[in-house]
Amino acid sequence: MRKKVFVTRKIPEEGIQILSEHFDVEIFPKKRPISKEEILVGAKGCDGLLPLLTDTIDAEIMDETGVKAIANMAVGYDNIDIKAATERKLPVCNTPGVLTDATADLTFALILSVSRRIVEADKYLREGKFVGWDPMLCLGGDFKEKTLGIIGFGRIGNAVARRALGFGINILYHSRVRYKNEEKELGVKYASLDELLERSDYVSIHTPHTSDTHHLIGENELKKMKPTSYLINTSRGKIIDEDKLVSALKDGEIAGAGLDVYYNEPAVHPGLIELPNVILLPHIGSASLGTRTKMATMAASNLKDALLGKIPKNIVNPEIYQ
Ligand code: GLV
Repeated sequence: MRKKVFVTRKIPEEGIQILSEHFDVEIFPKKRPISKEEILVGAKGCDGLLPLLTDTIDAEIMDETGVKAIANMAVGYDNIDIKAATERKLPVCNTPGVLTDATADLTFALILSVSRRIVEADKYLREGKFVGWDPMLCLGGDFKEKTLGIIGFGRIGNAVARRALGFGINILYHSRVRYKNEEKELGVKYASLDELLERSDYVSIHTPHTSDTHHLIGENELKKMKPTSYLINTSRGKIIDEDKLVSALKDGEIAGAGLDVYYNEPAVHPGLIELPNVILLPHIGSASLGTRTKMATMAASNLKDALLGKIPKNIVNPEIYQ
C-alpha cells in the first residue's frame, strides 16, 4: 500500500510531483495558514508531514497523527518541537542553502529602502506632493564608508556581506564562532555584540531563533545603537523585543527599521504600523519563484528519502539515526 503524506498548504507543483510519484498526497486546500485542529484531522494516519513555518508542530500533533517524518518547507524550524521529535525518533528536515540569495537580496532591498526612504517617497509622489526637485527632500542615509553590523554570520549573513562590499561599506559581524577565512577574504571584522551595536550605522539580523537568541535585541541593546542607525530583521521576529523596538523608534533612539518578520506573525505590533520610519514586509524573504520552487522540491525530496528509509540530506536531528 502507498504511504500517505499531508502538505499543509498549496506549494509549487514541482514539490508535489516528487511526492506523488511515491505517495498518496493530501493538500490542505484553503488559502490561509492551517489551524492546529485542521492539522490533527488532515495528517491523522499519514506517514509524512510537510508543514510550513506558519504551522506549530508540537508533541501532540506528532502523537495524535502518528506521522513518521516531518519536512519543513523553510530553513528556520523554530515552529517544530525538535526535542519532542528526537525523543520519538522522528526525522525533521529543513531547506538550507536554496533561499540564501533571495533572503540576502531582500535584506538589501530593506536596507536601501528604509535608509533612502523609498516607500515614503513613493507615497509622497502619489499624493501629488512632488512639485519639483528640492535640495532638502527625503534626505536619507549614506553607505560609502559607513558601517554595516551583521549579527549571525552563517550562509545568509555571509551573502549579505558579499552584497555590501559593492557599496564600499565597512562590515562588522558578530557570531558564536569566528570566520577567520571570511575575515581575510572579505575584510569583515569580528566585534562583540555591544561593539557592533555601538559602531554600526545599519544592523542586520541573520541568526536563527533559539532560546539563546530570543530577545537578543532588547531595551539595552537598542540603547547602544546610534540615533542615526537602522535595524533590519529578515530572520525571526522573536529575536527582537518588539515593544522595546517600538519605543526606541518613537523616542528617536534609532532612525528606522526594516522588518520582514514579527513577534506574533501574522499580527504586527500596532505601534509599528503607525510609524513612518519603518518598512514592513509580509515575510517575503525567500519569495522568488525560483527559490520557492527549490524549497518545495528540497522539502519533498527530504520527506521522500525519510519515508523510503534513507537518511535525508537536510536532517536537523541526525542523532535519531545513531
Ligand atoms: C523563512 O523564513 C525560512 O525560514 O525559510
